[in-house]
Amino acid sequence: LIQQAANYLTTAVASHATNFLESFEYPRTLIICGSGLGGISNRLSTLSPPPLIIPYSEIPRVKKSTVPGHSGTLIFGKMNGSPVVLMNGRLHTYEGNSIWETVFPIRALHSMPKNAIKNLIVTNAAGGLNPEFKACDLMCIYDHINLPGLSGLHPLKGPNFDEEGPRFLPLSDAYDLELRKLLFGKFKELGINERRKLFEGTYTFVSGPTFETRAESRFIRSMGGDAVGMSTVPEVIVARHCGWKVLALSLITNESVLDHPASALDENPVPLDAGIASHKEVLENGKAASSDVEILIEAIVGEL
Ligand code: 6GU
Repeated sequence: LIQQAANYLTTAVASHATNFLESFEYPRTLIICGSGLGGISNRLSTLSPPPLIIPYSEIPRVKKSTVPGHSGTLIFGKMNGSPVVLMNGRLHTYEGNSIWETVFPIRALHSMPKNAIKNLIVTNAAGGLNPEFKACDLMCIYDHINLPGLSGLHPLKGPNFDEEGPRFLPLSDAYDLELRKLLFGKFKELGINERRKLFEGTYTFVSGPTFETRAESRFIRSMGGDAVGMSTVPEVIVARHCGWKVLALSLITNESVLDHPASALDENPVPLDAGIASHKEVLENGKAASSDVEILIEAIVGEL
């Protein structure tokens, strides 16, 4: 099934290259865009050959993205001189996809000829749990907690593809140090540090689609989570299984509420209505910081 999707992509890419009389360069980097961060597609080179846009619905066995803010296309093109493929709109388990379906496009891309892809750059919108984090700050992921994975919902569960990667994959080095250094360097070089902060931290993957309760947020914080979100970790694990280097960047779209709720036993219970997370807020704050994320990624890709 993976090969069927890979063959479809290979044929589509080859005929696109032929149509424009260009020899096609296989992508070196896969970029996955988080909620509200799809504008990165505007950073693709419009010189010939133009980017090739393939809706997920045309690729055999790939599921549709159903979330507002996620468009659901695969785009092959060039960014800052480097050949890339963009997953514009990701698949989540909360949409009803199995965890294997959410990572299927990565497997399919890996099965295209030449094993060309060497890097994954992944972005997401996340809730901030570290009290230093403010909305519209950025966090470079240097470690993760795979909460569903620890309790059995794991993208590598099932028969192992030995030709792809090992049965027992180490993840202690999942987030590439050199790429993280490059990110911090470009962040400063581009002057983004004058507008927002870039932290380094631990991302906790939860299945969603509900946002966390206050007690859940305290629980995740006490485990060591700096940010929390509903994506990224399955993709990172499969990319590592494919041997790719990974760079992951969270846009902190809201500050999670860690306080206890108002108690019914208080004389004058204070209803705490501030800080209720919403998808609208996630998308709005995503928009506010998205151009900074875009120029950062564009700069990094130029070095790959
Ligand atoms: Cl607060 N929680 C989760 N699970 N995902 C998010 C988020 C919060 N904010 C953006 N994405």
